[in-house]
Amino acid sequence: MSLRNAPLAVIHDRDKSTLFTPEIREQIETWIAKYPSEWKQSAVMPALTIVQDANGGWLTPELMNDVAAYLDMPEVSVYEVATFYGMYDLEPQGRHKVCVCNSVSCLLLGSEELIEHVEHKYDVRLGETTADGRFTFKEVECLGACRHAPAVLVDKTYHENLSPQALDKLIDELE
Ligand code: FES
Repeated sequence: MSLRNAPLAVIHDRDKSTLFTPEIREQIETWIAKYPSEWKQSAVMPALTIVQDANGGWLTPELMNDVAAYLDMPEVSVYEVATFYGMYDLEPQGRHKVCVCNSVSCLLLGSEELIEHVEHKYDVRLGETTADGRFTFKEVECLGACRHAPAVLVDKTYHENLSPQALDKLIDELE
């Protein structure tokens, strides 16, 4: 199957060597190489993650357009992915992200208590960033750690069976 026939494929005429830094391109290429050549759009999620990480934890429309151009896919398809999954952020973020799972297992085992605790202690609501910019506080869907709920993702590290005190300790360790 040619690229033109592959689902979601459109040909962008932008010079791909002008998109991103060489280091970012190299990282994206590593992911593209994992898929058949006509399906490089399959690398959209890791590409968005790489670009987001390099941009301080969030994606601008321009960066999403660049990902679309780099992967030869419609811009709207990139927006669909970036707006559907909770790990992508479209607004500036704090230096860290504290993400509390509030799906059913965690809800039953204390996630609401964690959320209320953080909101009161650090004066930050879900979706907001602390006044000092230290962390953005987020609610996320199931992290796949239901057996050890409640689970919290701090930046890219999973933490399980958390009490408010244990979560405090994690937050206090953030710069
Ligand atoms: Fe929280 Fe699954 S419900 S990790």
